[in-house]
Amino acid sequence: MAIEQFAKLPTHVAMIMDGNGRWAKKRLLPRTAGHKVGLDTFVEMVDTCSDLGIKYMTVYAFSYENWNREKTEVDALMTLMETGIRRYTPEMHRKNIRLHLMGDLSLFEEGKRASLLACQEELSGNTGMTLSICLSYGGRQELVHACNELIKEGKTEITDADIERHLYSAGLPDPDLIIRTSGEYRISNFLLWQSAYAEYYFTDVLWPDFHKEELYKALHDFEGRKRRFGK
Ligand code: IPE
Ligand code: IPE
Ligand code: MG
Repeated sequence: MAIEQFAKLPTHVAMIMDGNGRWAKKRLLPRTAGHKVGLDTFVEMVDTCSDLGIKYMTVYAFSYENWNREKTEVDALMTLMETGIRRYTPEMHRKNIRLHLMGDLSLFEEGKRASLLACQEELSGNTGMTLSICLSYGGRQELVHACNELIKEGKTEITDADIERHLYSAGLPDPDLIIRTSGEYRISNFLLWQSAYAEYYFTDVLWPDFHKEELYKALHDFEGRKRRFGK
């Protein structure tokens, strides 16, 4: 099948994968059923972005605040994410994808953390798309973490660059386009520093229904954006 053509693509696309619970509710299914289908969408999006030649992709999979959900949902999500990423790792390897985990992984159960870090390590030599997965991630917590690292260095005055080298995203370009599904118009603590000049795309489509045609719509919308960066 011919691959969709674009006049320009974002170097870095980020996605707030929202709406799994509502997708399940509409079908009278448990929330976890929505997360399961959401995982398939994630895989479809990674494959599509990698095939399009996008260099950086970041997804918001589990926020710092998501730890406050019911324990049964949190446990189900943890298992789903860890097994999902582990099973998808050989395929990511074939696609030359590098994996980068962002967030406070110390809150993960030891076995799951070790497994996720092993996947990251296995893909660390790859040179194709960099896939960042935000897990146990919060933009505010990331900034506080960076400030604490600078205090440890003994800094009494800091620059933008000092903060940037202590963000989980150190070394990655800022996102050009941030997509949020499910009709919510907020950023929910996602990439607060990095999104300073990002373009946003909001859609009512729920994450489990966000297939590649929906991604193409967002990318075509981005083609028409005129970015000024204050100039
Ligand atoms: C996104 O879907 C997945 C996570 C936040 C982990 P939600 O679980 O937030 O689904 P809704 O927003 O309740 O529909
Ligand atoms: C944001 O979605 C986090 C993820 C998609 C992982 P939430 O569903 O947690 O955000 P709020 O609570 O609607 O702002
Ligand atoms: Mg939600």
